[in-house]
This record gives sequence, structure tokens and C-alpha cells, in this order.
Amino acid sequence: MKIAFFSTQPYDKEYFTRHNSGHDLVFFEAQLNEQTVPLADGCSAICAFVNDSLNAATIKQLAAQGVQLIAMRSAGYNNVDLPSAQLHNIKVVRVPAYSPYAVAEHAVALILTLNRKTHKAYNRVREGNFSLDKLTGFDLHGKTVGVIGTGKIGQVFCDIMKGFGCRVVAFDLIANKELESKGIEYLPLVQLLPQCDIISLHCPLTEQTKHLINADTLRLMKPGVMLINTSRGALIDTRDAIHALKTGHLGYLGIDVYEQEEKLFFHNLSEQIIEDDVIMRLMSFPNVLITSHQGFFTDEALTQIAKTTLRNVHDFEAGKPLENKVV
Ligand code: NAI
Repeated sequence: MKIAFFSTQPYDKEYFTRHNSGHDLVFFEAQLNEQTVPLADGCSAICAFVNDSLNAATIKQLAAQGVQLIAMRSAGYNNVDLPSAQLHNIKVVRVPAYSPYAVAEHAVALILTLNRKTHKAYNRVREGNFSLDKLTGFDLHGKTVGVIGTGKIGQVFCDIMKGFGCRVVAFDLIANKELESKGIEYLPLVQLLPQCDIISLHCPLTEQTKHLINADTLRLMKPGVMLINTSRGALIDTRDAIHALKTGHLGYLGIDVYEQEEKLFFHNLSEQIIEDDVIMRLMSFPNVLITSHQGFFTDEALTQIAKTTLRNVHDFEAGKPLENKVV
């Protein structure tokens, strides 16, 4: 099957080429949108990532060009207009789980870096500055950590934080019995927020969760709280978070995702003027740490993403049931 890859990075090409057997892979650096959709001409499938725009117009055009399958090489699919895909009889598949460890461990990396300021220490020491002034952190042991969304990633994150000796409380639509048996307590969101020293978001972006973290929910949090988001940018109302950072109510913010990330993340813009004033304001805070959507970025995860995506395409071509079908 001929598959057009959008938003291709060198590592996508490397891992997909390594694990491919028999498909014709065409790689494009361009993001998929209404302007770039003609690149997929002659392809029966397209492979897209988190910042490709699969809106109604793009999907209509894909269908007109004969595309039958959208293979997301991600777990999230909030950027795909699913009713349009159904309308045009295009199947959508994804990679539901590739390495929950990759993302959960990255959330922990953000916590440890913000807390113990290793990013600052690294730069100081390289410049011969061995002072510890303002590098004070806090023990994670004994602190209360709130986990919002205890699916595959949230569950691994809970286990890691238990290992640090934290008290872990959770909010989800469905309580996970295994976690409860390990002493993790499920609480309503309004009860969870005021208790936590650290809050980590691991739920998907849906209509219900968009701007789940806003002025009202931020106000409920403990002063000085650390907020971590490795899930999707729009879970947080960034302007409200900036306000809470300015007042000092939000003590630390660690994000691997950002609501307007599609124009920024995965690109080297170091020689350009960045026009997004919101992210520039965020970057100006000493207690904010931003990584550009690299939670998934481990060798194990990239291998699994390539293998599962190619298997999804193979199953579609062979007319087999689509285990990882979204619609
Ligand atoms: P999952 O589907 O296994 O778990 C999601 C959990 O969130 C479920 O337990 C679900 O019940 C819960 N949930 C859904 N709606 C909720 C709501 N309104 N309030 C509270 N909880 C709710 O998903 P998984 O694999 O754990 O991934 C979580 C998210 O992580 C993905 O949706 C994706 O956005 C993000 N992600 C980020 C990556 C990165 O590189 N930074 C990589 C992979 C995923």
C-alpha cells in the first residue's frame, strides 16, 4: 500500500523504514492541512501525527483523492474530525499504547528538574559557578500527588510516585481497582485539587476536559502547587496559568504540550522571531519548564509506534478486523 507520511522527522523515516516490509512509504516534512493535502495524491493511506490538521475540509479532499485509511502514529486523535472520516468512509486507526513508561517517566523528569533545578545547576557548574544559592528543592517523600486520568500512562505514573514515598490521590471517570488496592484514593476533583503539592494531567483532550485547568480550578489548588502536563496543551487555559504564575499561586509549571504548539513544536526556530507572545511569556518564568512534546520519545516507543502503525495498515489492506480502529 502506498502511504503518505506527513510531519515527517528524521527519526520517523528511520524507524518506519527499518520496520517496513512491502509498503511504499512516501515521506513529507510538511504538516497535513488543506494546502498540503495534494501531496497525498496516489496514496491509499496517510500517516499523520499530533499536530497535523485533519479537519472536515482536509478529510473531504483526502477522500476525493482516494485515501481510504488515516493511520495516526499517536495515541491521541483529537486533531481528527471523526464524523467527517465516517461520512467519507475513511477508517481511522491509531497506536493506543506504545510505551506508557516513556510519557510517565518524562512527567517525572519534569517534576525532578523543576524541583531540584538540575537544568540550572548544569549551566552554573559549566560556568564555574558552584554556588547553591536559590537551588533549594523539596523532598518528594511524603508529599501528596494528584493524578488526573489514571489510564495506561497515569497508572504507571501513580506507581512511580508511590515508589518515591508520595501519597497519591486520583481523579478519573472510572476508578482503577488495581490502583485502589495499592492505596491510591479516588477523590472528586474539587476535593483533590486543594490537597495536592503536585498535580499531573494524564487524561485525554475532550470537550469535557478542554481548559479543565482554568482560573476556577487553579484557585482551588494549594498555593505553590506544581502543575505538570504531558497530555494535551488545551487541558490548561494557558492565560489563566500565566496569571496564577504571576501572582505566585502556581509555584511551578512543567509542560510537554502547549495549546498552540502546532506552529512551534518539532521545528528549529532558533533563528526566527517567535510571534507567539503567550509561549514567550511562559518561557520568561524561572519556575516554568517547557519541553516540545517529547514524552513519547524513547527508542522503545518509536519502535512500537512504527510496528503497530504498519500492522494497522497491513490489517486494513488484508481486510482483517482493525484492532486499533478509532472509527
Ligand atoms: P488512556 O486512554 O489509557 O487513559 C486516559 C484516562 O483518562 C482514562 O482512564 C479515562 O477514563 C480518563 N479520562 C477520560 N476523560 C476524563 C475526564 N473528563 N476526567 C478525568 N479522567 C478522564 O490514555 P493514555 O495512554 O494513558 O494517554 C493519556 C493521554 O496522554 C493521551 O490522551 C494523550 O493526550 C497523552 N499522550 C501524550 C504523549 C506525549 O508525548 N506527551 C504521548 C502519548 C499520549
